[in-house]
Amino acid sequence: MKILSIESSCDETAAAVVEDGRKVLSSVVASQVEEHRLYGGVVPEIASRRHAESISAVVREALAQAQCNLSDIDAIGVTFAPGLIGALLVGVNFAKGLSLATGKPLVPVHHLRSHIAANYITHTELKPPFLCLVVSGGHSHIVMVEDYTKMRVIGATRDDAAGEAFDKAARTMGMPYPGGIELDRVAEEGNENAYTLPHPTVAGSPYDFSFSGLKTAVINLHHNAEQKGEEICKEDLCASFRKAVVDCLTDNLFKAAADLGVDTIVAAGGVSANRLLRRELERLCKEKGCKLYVPQLSLCGDNGAMVGSQAYYEFLSGNIAESNLNAIATLPIDYL
Ligand code: KG4
Ligand code: ZN
Repeated sequence: MKILSIESSCDETAAAVVEDGRKVLSSVVASQVEEHRLYGGVVPEIASRRHAESISAVVREALAQAQCNLSDIDAIGVTFAPGLIGALLVGVNFAKGLSLATGKPLVPVHHLRSHIAANYITHTELKPPFLCLVVSGGHSHIVMVEDYTKMRVIGATRDDAAGEAFDKAARTMGMPYPGGIELDRVAEEGNENAYTLPHPTVAGSPYDFSFSGLKTAVINLHHNAEQKGEEICKEDLCASFRKAVVDCLTDNLFKAAADLGVDTIVAAGGVSANRLLRRELERLCKEKGCKLYVPQLSLCGDNGAMVGSQAYYEFLSGNIAESNLNAIATLPIDYL
């Protein structure tokens, strides 16, 4: 079964053709990041406009690269939630138009579920159940993936997402948006024990995260040093901050894995590209006898292929949208 999939939840316009949820026939991503960088973050209005301008060409290119016509496609998958509402609406309306014009079923896909599905493409043998750390620019979750479309949230952030914390700390240190990537690169050269930073936990909720205090601590440390004219070692501060974030993520993840008796660990989302997070997950999984799956780097960020993968499993479970499908800015991963 071939699915044409569309993603427009944030600042990438993406489309792909994926066969049976696992085989990517094409994947096209048009990134707007250069333009948003001018403003230090995603400007929702600009994002919507650029999606509207690019979507037609991106979908055409995905079909062409897969050597498919619309008549070869069996269903149309689209990210409908969560995300920037104006951005989501562009993809949803385009997909609805295609579905109505061709008579092909329309499959609604939750953005975080699709990040998890990036792993089904990278690891064709991977099947639920597993415990997944979903870490992106907007979300940080520990999710028990019972089945392809059955999820249970075990823990979540109470404030900032991990990616957001990385981006804000990086911005304070003068790095361009999205700073998480650059902070990770600079941290490779630093000493992670150079600065003492808090390790926030959420009282009474051992699997939840809180990153805003950590983010504020690094921002204050930087500003205080600036005011006193003290030298900050950027590499060391990046390394110390990255270590603190990764420790919070892995501590709660492995606490949950032990308590739930799960030994298959999966990572997903933009932050799963983080070098230290990948190394630590590998080390801890080896130590605890768990099997680890992380997405290939090209599928960590937003893309259409992961949407096509999840759409296949949503389709199999009967999750087909009517023509009144709407975009939703906020929706829990276990909505169904
Ligand atoms: O999943 P994603 O592409 O978009 C959302 O759904 O939010 O995640 C983007 C986030 C950004 O905050 C970006 O800075 C972060 O992922 N990110 C990283 C790395 N690569 C991307 N954060 C830390 N280290 C990285 N290597
Ligand atoms: Zn994403």
